[in-house]
Amino acid sequence: MPRFPLRLRKLLPVLLTGTVGAGAAIFFAGTSDAAATLGASAEAKGRYFGAAIAASKLGDSTYTRILKSEFTSVTAENEMKWDATEPSRGVFNYTGGDRILAQAQANGQKVRGHALAWHSQMPGWAQSLSGSTLRSAMLNHVTQVATHYKGKIHSWDVVNEAFADDGRGSRRDSSLQRTGNDWIEAAFRSARAADPAAKLCYNDYNTDGVNAKSTAVYNMVRDFKARGVPIDCVGFQSHLTNSAPGDYQANLQRFADLGVDVQITELDISGSGQAAAYAAVTKACLAVARCTGITVWGIRDSDSWRTGTNPLLFDAGGNKKAAYTSVLNALNAGGSTPGGGCTATATAGTVWGDRYNTSVTVTGASTWTVVVALTAPQKVSTVWSGAASWDTSGNVMTVKSNGSGNTFGFTTTFNGNTSARPQVRSCTAG
Ligand code: G3I
Repeated sequence: MPRFPLRLRKLLPVLLTGTVGAGAAIFFAGTSDAAATLGASAEAKGRYFGAAIAASKLGDSTYTRILKSEFTSVTAENEMKWDATEPSRGVFNYTGGDRILAQAQANGQKVRGHALAWHSQMPGWAQSLSGSTLRSAMLNHVTQVATHYKGKIHSWDVVNEAFADDGRGSRRDSSLQRTGNDWIEAAFRSARAADPAAKLCYNDYNTDGVNAKSTAVYNMVRDFKARGVPIDCVGFQSHLTNSAPGDYQANLQRFADLGVDVQITELDISGSGQAAAYAAVTKACLAVARCTGITVWGIRDSDSWRTGTNPLLFDAGGNKKAAYTSVLNALNAGGSTPGGGCTATATAGTVWGDRYNTSVTVTGASTWTVVVALTAPQKVSTVWSGAASWDTSGNVMTVKSNGSGNTFGFTTTFNGNTSARPQVRSCTAG
């Protein structure tokens, strides 16, 4: 039962058992638990808070406890990469990626896809290709993987790390780059065709401040937008040491001003300035309306690829570090909310053996749009006093006011899962 205050989580089964058929109303979701976890606090600001995870660690109970309670989005650290998903040409293996997806869906978490086309971690067979053969193998890979995960990924890193660190903003030399300068846009077009619902991102590192590399990416995004190449977001990896660049927020904002979302995709920070730098990054994201979420690159320090530098929010024992508190406080302190302008509070209604009711009351606006996340295999069977639509997964319901007042309700069938409850994701006025 993710993102319920612990106090309420313990009480809920008792209360719900007591209300079967009774129709009693119990407050169980909304915005009052915003201070409790990274995920709930970010959600109260209209953003996700994610972590990169490894399928091989899903049997570790400390790891999964933190994963379930703190995060609303996950990224596969390695399992959706080219070498993992297409180990032999035309032979696809989704075992690790599917495991991560299933775990995320069971927890009601979003999934970021990482990464469709990247010069690194290419399988051996692809490393031996070049020119048009490599181009078509890469595009087929993008199409196949994006099609396999169609409708299940909120954002894909379509192309990863295609620019050089030469201080001149050049493209990185790679076998992919040598197939022609248009390889990036070709990958984006293939991804869009395969999964029209996913946000398509370009993702890179050392682009966190205004510099030659980030400006080169900026110019590419501006050109893509001008020519109608499908790009929706830019990922800033943010593998930092000691501090964030002073112009971190300004850099995010200049990309957002091009008409794309921005996301912090692989955040980890080493060094003595860690806690303050985490706060600065979090505040910068909250201050940019199109910064839609933050992902940290691992859960505990012992899970980090930056061995020995302890750059994450939990120590090796799974304890919260000062950096964790710093992020949580920053999330709970102000900042702009995408949409916003109203508050939606969910209240539990009647519970039957196979289904239960929920009502949601909106304050702060007379016309509104409320987004509610469900946990599969639960399904909404009836909605009243609001106009509902669903995303392609069927797990995210958007309800708009329809003139029936400020409270809408819905019935959800358990379908075998009696513990999960809907979560109010956002309330937007108008
Ligand atoms: O799973 C095998 C294991 O069976 C084997 O014994 C071991 C021996 O080398 O290797 C293990 O695989 C390693 C894998 O991580 C899982 O631990 C790979 O060798 C290793 O190359 C791989 O490193 C990953 C790295 O990307 C590869 O470039 C890191 O986990 C991952 O955190 C890192 O993530 C990247 C992002 O994708 C892109 N941005 C930078 C970021 C950090 O480098």
